[in-house]
Amino acid sequence: MTDSLVDTDAWQALRRHHGAVQAVHLRELFARDPGRVERLSFEAAGIHADLSKHRVEDETVGLLLGLARERGVEARRDAMLRGEPVNTTEGRSALHTALRLPRERSLLVGGRDVVRDVHEVLDRMTALAEQVRSGAWRGHTGKPIRAVVSIGIGGSDLGPAMAYEALRAYTDRELAFRFVSNVDATALVEATRDLDPEQTLVIVSSKTFTTIETMTNARSARAWLLAGLGGDEGAVARHAVAVSTNLEAVAEFGIDPANAFGFWDWVGGRYSLDSAIGLSTMIAVGPAAFRELLDGFHAMDEHFAGAPPERNLPVLMGLLGIWYRDFFGAETHAVLPYEQYLSRLPAYLQQLVMESNGKRVRLDGEPVEAGTSGVVWGEPGTNGQHSFHQLLHQGTVLVPCDLIAFAQPLHPLGDHHELLLANALAQAQALAFGRTRDELGRAGVADELVPHKEMPGNRPSTFLLLERLTPFALGTLVALYEHVVFTQGVVWGIDSFDQWGVELGKELALELVPALSEGAEGRGLDASTSLLVERIRSLRAAT
Ligand code: F6P
Repeated sequence: MTDSLVDTDAWQALRRHHGAVQAVHLRELFARDPGRVERLSFEAAGIHADLSKHRVEDETVGLLLGLARERGVEARRDAMLRGEPVNTTEGRSALHTALRLPRERSLLVGGRDVVRDVHEVLDRMTALAEQVRSGAWRGHTGKPIRAVVSIGIGGSDLGPAMAYEALRAYTDRELAFRFVSNVDATALVEATRDLDPEQTLVIVSSKTFTTIETMTNARSARAWLLAGLGGDEGAVARHAVAVSTNLEAVAEFGIDPANAFGFWDWVGGRYSLDSAIGLSTMIAVGPAAFRELLDGFHAMDEHFAGAPPERNLPVLMGLLGIWYRDFFGAETHAVLPYEQYLSRLPAYLQQLVMESNGKRVRLDGEPVEAGTSGVVWGEPGTNGQHSFHQLLHQGTVLVPCDLIAFAQPLHPLGDHHELLLANALAQAQALAFGRTRDELGRAGVADELVPHKEMPGNRPSTFLLLERLTPFALGTLVALYEHVVFTQGVVWGIDSFDQWGVELGKELALELVPALSEGAEGRGLDASTSLLVERIRSLRAAT
């Protein structure tokens, strides 16, 4: 593999090919090739993926697969799955796939069977989840738990928060779940204001157990528990548990080691939903459903590991993302779930995709010569249709879209689901084929309105169709995107598992805390920050 992406034969060939096909309309591609839908439809772990509404010909797909080959995607995938340190800047493996290996499998890393470790923790989580759900777990005053407050941020929050929403239909409705991530006190105050500390379990989740937002919220939550439990430090043991790789710091914080659930440095924060970080999810849906979620992840892992590249859905979707990002210059990608329960999926994917692949240098430290991750965003359909879809259809930017739909509703109420599905299908149709001037003319639209009503189409989308939103299905979807991200990272030659870009802001914030109380002078701050600090101080002094 040459380090220079743009000098590879495949990249050069794709450039030339792009020049030849960029103006071809999807209408034409469909008209001249009725077999394309069949050839561009794929099955993976229960997901039916229609990739036919992409601006590709067979040659495009062949060239993209050639790029994956030239960049060594398969070899790198195998290295990741074996536990090699593919996270080179941190010298770590990225073994989230081991978190969902079945109990009977084994995976030796440095002579240690990580699958056994994983299942030991899963069994301890199961015991706690069952006790909380059955009411056997009693708080300090002998009452059962009625609310779980999950404290964490980034990967220690977005996964559990997204999964709780996604699987709400499967949750124990007797238990309330709240998620606190922001250091803004509003988050914690609002999450706890109507809860009874005697019946609340706080889960503090942090891979490092040093993250300032989480530790600040955890301290305040402990104070809230203490105040509600009569000030007895010992009482907190029945109301606080922790999830972390840093069990020493958990003990220092005062959480009983018996109530601490570990995971490992080879699990990246944004890949940790299926580790002990998923404890709140397991309590919400129960251990059996949590294991179904893991089975879904694993089914997609098996597909990614074993399907040939030309039928490998994460590989194909990853390559299509690169096709639009680097050849068409698309800077954003929309994820549009036609399922209200997936309302937090776009936010979850923002961290997964953008923290993983928002990188500017390659593994060797040299600049990447191509554009890496674009911006991921989205909202559940049909809400987005009545706000930003105008831009998707008639704006001047190209936004590839993923539409996610389920054939069966979770709530079969009237004709809601027919309308929901019809809208999902209609959006993909309108994006691809639009409405021509001729069609408008034939429909009697006044000449002066024709340009306004013309729908150019030729806007690419992936349609992911699943049977029903189940824990298994959610696992397949999340693992699909994990492997899409991986494929793209390998092609770009970057480290998808580090996140150095978030460090500077953290350092600067800590330096600025004393300035807010003591003043900006003499701290070597830039003029703008200095003025803002002083303005804050004077606004505070005035009240
Ligand atoms: O600041 C970014 C980050 O390090 C994420 O990668 C991570 O998911 C999040 O912070 C939370 O980190 P932790 O789980 O260690 O508290």
